[in-house]
Amino acid sequence: MKTAELRSKFLQFFESKNHQIVPSSSLVPPQDDKTLLFTNAGMNQFKDVFLGFDKRPYHRATTAQKCVRAGGKHNDLENVGYTARHHTFFEMLGNFSFGDYFKRDALLFAWEFLTSPQWLNLPKERLLATVYAEDDEAYDIWLNEIGMPANRIIRIGDNKGARFASDNFWQMGDTGPCGPCSEIFYDHGEHIWGGPPGSAEEDGDRFIEIWNCVFMQYNRDENGNMNKLPRPSVDTGMGLERVSAVLQHVHSNYEIDLFVNLLHAVARVVGVSYSQDMPSLKVIADHIRSCAFLIADGVLPSNEGRGYVLRRIIRRAVRHGYKLGCKQAFFHLLVGDLAKEMGQAYPQLIEKQTQISEILQQEETRFAQTLETGMALLETALEKDSQSLSGEVIFKLYDTYGFPYDLTADIARERNISLDEEGFEREMAAQRARARAAQNFKANTQLNYEGTDTEFRGYSERQSESKILALYKDGEAVEQLHAGEAGAVVIDFTPFYAESGGQVGDVGYIFTGENRFQVLDTQKIKASVFGQFGEMLAGSLTVGDAVTAQVDNDIREASMRNHSATHLMHRALRDVLGTHVEQKGSLVTPERTRFDFSHSQPVTAAQIAEVERRVNEAILANVPVCAQHMTFDEAIAAGAMALFGEKYGDQVRMLSMGEYSTELCGGTHVSRTGDIGLFKIVSESGIAAGVRRIEAVTGMVSLQYVQQQEELLKAAVAEVKAQTTDDLLTKIAAMQTHSKQLEKSLLQAKGELAKQAGMSLLAQAQPIGTARLVVSQVEADSNALREITTSLTAKGDNIVVLLAAVNAGKIAITAGVSKELTKTVKAGELVNFVATQVGGKGGGRPDLAQAGGQDVDQLETALAGVADWLKAKAI
Ligand code: ALA
Repeated sequence: MKTAELRSKFLQFFESKNHQIVPSSSLVPPQDDKTLLFTNAGMNQFKDVFLGFDKRPYHRATTAQKCVRAGGKHNDLENVGYTARHHTFFEMLGNFSFGDYFKRDALLFAWEFLTSPQWLNLPKERLLATVYAEDDEAYDIWLNEIGMPANRIIRIGDNKGARFASDNFWQMGDTGPCGPCSEIFYDHGEHIWGGPPGSAEEDGDRFIEIWNCVFMQYNRDENGNMNKLPRPSVDTGMGLERVSAVLQHVHSNYEIDLFVNLLHAVARVVGVSYSQDMPSLKVIADHIRSCAFLIADGVLPSNEGRGYVLRRIIRRAVRHGYKLGCKQAFFHLLVGDLAKEMGQAYPQLIEKQTQISEILQQEETRFAQTLETGMALLETALEKDSQSLSGEVIFKLYDTYGFPYDLTADIARERNISLDEEGFEREMAAQRARARAAQNFKANTQLNYEGTDTEFRGYSERQSESKILALYKDGEAVEQLHAGEAGAVVIDFTPFYAESGGQVGDVGYIFTGENRFQVLDTQKIKASVFGQFGEMLAGSLTVGDAVTAQVDNDIREASMRNHSATHLMHRALRDVLGTHVEQKGSLVTPERTRFDFSHSQPVTAAQIAEVERRVNEAILANVPVCAQHMTFDEAIAAGAMALFGEKYGDQVRMLSMGEYSTELCGGTHVSRTGDIGLFKIVSESGIAAGVRRIEAVTGMVSLQYVQQQEELLKAAVAEVKAQTTDDLLTKIAAMQTHSKQLEKSLLQAKGELAKQAGMSLLAQAQPIGTARLVVSQVEADSNALREITTSLTAKGDNIVVLLAAVNAGKIAITAGVSKELTKTVKAGELVNFVATQVGGKGGGRPDLAQAGGQDVDQLETALAGVADWLKAKAI
C-alpha cells in the first residue's frame, strides 16, 4: 500500500466511526503558546479543547498532522540518518476524543484498524503492547477484550527518574495536558537487532513503536502539580512513515515509496549514485521535508528561535551535501521533487514552491561562502589534536563561520572526536556578557502588581481624570514619588496607549496642581494593566491621589498617522507584489513606520512608486476609519486580514478604511484617511533571507523629507556647477567620461613604473642553484604585483619571484616561476608556503599564483624563509 493511500485510509476509517476530519494545523503554534517551539503532535491544535478552555462542534476528530521534532522537548535531530525511524519532519495520524470515548474504544479502534482484513490486516502475532505500570484497566482490555497474550503486554513504570516520568506517560511539554499511555509495537523480526520495550536492547530497530494511545487525564502546571482535566479524553498518534514501512514490507522508513523517490532525487542533485547505505542521503531527504514545510508555514532562517532551528537544519543538510562532494547549491533543487511527492496532500507546497526554493537557495549560498573556510579551520585544528576539538575552535566555527554547535557535533560523531562542550559554553557566556553590557537601558516592566485592572480610554480621550493605584521606584512599590525620582505610575483610567501591535507607547504628563510626572513610555505590566514610566519633574505624587493624565497630542497624532498608513501600505504591497506578502514585523513610532514582510527580491523602484501612488490615492479618498468589535469569525467573514501566526481572542477589533483596508488591530488610528497627509517611502532593504523592510513617513515628516531631498538636489547642482536640475545628469556624465580617461592614463603610468621597479628587483636577485630568486616586499596593489611578477618571470628561463605588499592591513602575495622551471617549482606551493604563515591561503597556475593574508607581523619571517624553501628543491 502506498503512503498516500494509507493516509486516506486512516482518515476514512475514523470518519466511519463518526470522527470529524480536521485539517493539519500549521507547524508554527499559535503565538501565545510559549510552551511549544513547533507543532510536535496531532493533539497540539486541540490543547485548549482538552483543557476545557475551547469547545468544538464535534466530540471526535481525526487528523493527518505535520509535525517537526527538532529543538524543544521532543528533539530527534541528531538521530536522523542514523536510525531507521527518526525524522525531523513526519506525519502523525491521530484520532481524538474530547470527553467522549475513553480507553476501551481507543484501544479497540486501533486494534481494528491495524488487524482487520478490511483495513490493514497486519499479522496479530507481530504486535505487542505496552501500558503504564499502574494502568490495570488498559492491561485488562488488552488481555481480556483484545486477546493479546500476557507475554506480549509489557508494563512500564516511571523509568525516567521522577514521578510520572515514563515512556508510558505522555506530555506535550513541561506543562499542559498529559496522561498515561499505551503503545503498540511492531516486531520486524529476528534478523534485526533490538529487544522489546523495557529490555536492555530496546533502542534497537527490531521492535518499532507504531501507535501511541494517550489517555488524557491531567493538566500539569508550572509547579509540577497534576490537575485533573474536566473530562477524560483520548489523544492518539500513529506514525505514517513507520506503518507505511510495515505495509511495504521494508524495515526502514527510508525504504518506503515516498522516501525512495526523494532519495533518488537527492542522489541526482548532489551527483552520486543512489544507495540505502549513505546516511548523508537520508539526512538530506529528511531535512528537505522539514525545511520546505517550515518555510511554507512562514518560518524564515534567522539567528533566533524557530528561525535558528530552521537555519541549523538547512546548514546540516548543506554540510552533508558537501561531504558527498557537492560544492554547488543543491538543496533548493529538491523542492520540486518534494512537491511532486507530497503536494497533493499539502497543496501549499505547490503554491509556495518558488518562494521556498528561493529562500533555500539564498540560505545555502550564503553558508557555502563560509563552509569551506570553516572546514579548513576544523581540519587544521584536527591536525594538531586528532582526538578532540577545543571550546575555542567550536566557538570560532560557530561565531565566524556559522557552524551551529550541532553541525560540529555531527562531524565529530562521524569521526569519533570528542567536543569540549563546557569550553564552548564558556565562550558563549563571555559573548553574551559582552552583548549585555552593550545593550541600552530599557524600562523594567517586571513590576509586582496585584491590584485591579486598568481601563484604556485612549481611543476616544487624550486626557482622563484618574486615580493613582500604584507607584514604583527602582522596580519596587512605594507610597510616594518625589521630584527627581524615576519610576512608574499605574492609574485606573488611562488615555496612554501601551506599546503593542508594533505601535510604541504614548508619552505625556500625569499631574495634579504643581505636582508633575513626565511619562516617557507606556508599557503593559500585565495583560490588562498599563504602566506609565518616566520621571517626577516637580512636587510629589501619592497612591490614591486624583490626577489628570494627559497624552502629548502632537506625538500621539504622528503615531496614529503612521499606524493608519501602515495598514494602507500592507494592503498596497499585497496588491502590487502578490498575496505572498505577509507581515513579519512592524514598528510604528511618531517619526516613521517600519514594516517587515516576506518577499524574496528587492522591491523595484517602479513597485515602490506604485505602492506610494495607491496609498496616497486612499489618503486622498479621505474615507472614514471605523473600528468595530465583533467575533473573530465575523471579522474574517467580513474580509478582515488577520496576521499569520497571531492568536486572537474571541472578541476582536476590526479596523476598516473604506474599500482600502480591513484588518484586525488594537492600535490607535486617525479618523479619516485624509488626516495622514503625504505618504512617502524613504527606504527599502533586505533584512534576512526572504524578508524585506520598508520605512515610510507621513504628515509633516514627509514634507520635511521632500524638502530635504530638494535641498540635496540643489546642492548637487551647485557642486557640479550645473545651471538647473535638468542639466545635472549631462554634467555628471561628462565628469565620468573625463575621470575614465584619467584612470586610463594613470594605469599606463603605473605599468611603466612597475616595469622599472621590476628591473631593479631583478638586479638584486639571489642565485639559488641554477635559479635566480627575487623575493621582496614592495608598494603596489595586487594588480601591479601581478604585472611586475609576470614581467620578471618573462625575463629568463630560471626566475622565481615572490612579492608581497601590505595595503590597509591586508597582505597581498604573488608568486611567479619561469615556465621552464614549473616542473620542479610550483608557484601555487610557493605562494601557500608564505600565505599559511601569515594566516591566509591562495592558489593559481604553476607559473603564477596569488594569495592573501593578515598577520602582518609574520610577513618578514615568512619572506626570509623563501630562500631555504627554494634551496630544498635542489635545483
Ligand atoms: N500525542 C501522542 C504522541 O505524540 C499521541 O505520541
